[in-house]
Amino acid sequence: MIATVRAASALRGDLELPGDKSISHRALMLGAIADGESRVRGLSLGVDVASTAKCLRGLGVDIEPGRVVGRGMGGLRASSVPLDCGNSGTTMRLLAGLLSAQPFQSELVGDESLSLRPMDRVIEPLRRMGAQVEWPPLRVGGGGGLRGIDYEAPIPSAQVKSSLLLAGLYADGPTRVIEPVATRDHTERMLRAMGATVEVKDRSAGVVRTERLEPLDLDVPRDLSAASFWLVAGGLLPGSRLRMPGVGLNPTRTGFLELLRRAGFAIAVAAEEDAGGEPVGTIEVGGAAELGPLDIDAATAAAMIDELPVLAVAATQLPGTSTVRGAGELRVKESDRIAAMADALTAMGADITAQDDGWVIRGPRHLEGARVDALGDHRIAMALAVAALMADGHTEITGADSVDISYPGFFDQLDALRGGN
Ligand code: S3P
Repeated sequence: MIATVRAASALRGDLELPGDKSISHRALMLGAIADGESRVRGLSLGVDVASTAKCLRGLGVDIEPGRVVGRGMGGLRASSVPLDCGNSGTTMRLLAGLLSAQPFQSELVGDESLSLRPMDRVIEPLRRMGAQVEWPPLRVGGGGGLRGIDYEAPIPSAQVKSSLLLAGLYADGPTRVIEPVATRDHTERMLRAMGATVEVKDRSAGVVRTERLEPLDLDVPRDLSAASFWLVAGGLLPGSRLRMPGVGLNPTRTGFLELLRRAGFAIAVAAEEDAGGEPVGTIEVGGAAELGPLDIDAATAAAMIDELPVLAVAATQLPGTSTVRGAGELRVKESDRIAAMADALTAMGADITAQDDGWVIRGPRHLEGARVDALGDHRIAMALAVAALMADGHTEITGADSVDISYPGFFDQLDALRGGN
């Protein structure tokens, strides 16, 4: 699909954001191995989470809207067909950990983009735990029992950490993952809420063998990463006012909010009660007056890895030189996000230079509508839609249907928020 997006002068309204993608995947997977029925409200309706649900159904799990019937730690059944993870790295990597601990073998497949993404980052440590893993294609499980390990992860990745913690629930002895920079901790929080023993210290997270998980009763927070597009658009278009209730405010995810505020964005956050061990609140943004550049390094990039494409769009409108470093992981996401954003924003008239591990962006620059390619990557499509709002004329975004991966209805909401303008 090609989306045509024209310039806007302001965005106004209240927004119902989609359910958090990371938490939704985990609720389905952990609900599947809990003892009894989990109630989960507000799950992401995106295609990635649907891929996780489909794989789990293939493993014998009964999943209906709002309900996951847990089969217990030992209750998953072998699938007669390969499990299709679609476009979802979280599905493939987390299931690789969970399924490597099962007494049967599973084959995990994905679309063209997912098939090109690195899997050695989970295969190598899972093998160290004694898992039987073949690759490619990815076949896991059916070997003997696993043993817990201490794993010093070379890259910060919540998917790797979570994969090993899921395997660790079945392993003899403790499993501990030490990261270079702490990443999102949804798995640790959810496991705790389900009664598991989880040890967290600075940059390390550990579990021990677990016989039983309590079912969940969870309202999934709305997705802070989905909010990032509106925060940048609303902050840059003067006269905007956007309000987003019920958004997840997990401190491992809020780094970009602080960064935007430091750059002068008018963002107000009102914290509310926790939901299932996750902080939530209402976020409001209005058009800001005096803005400055962004400076992101390796220590901060990991905490805002999914927001970096839209932060690059913001940087094109901020005075001064913005730099993003230490974000080489962007090259192995659903697309090469460093190249994708540099190519598209250059076509729109931005001053952006791609580096191996980020960008240098000089602003503010006047953007012009152009034909740009989202490369079938949901976050690139939404970031480019935000750029299009600032650009003269019309911007045509190819591969825009990819927004359905995490944010079905994104373009309809955009139309509603712009009202007549
Ligand atoms: C995710 C972890 C991150 C993130 C992805 C979701 C998760 O990936 O980019 O969108 O739910 O664990 P990495 O673990 O590859 O950094």
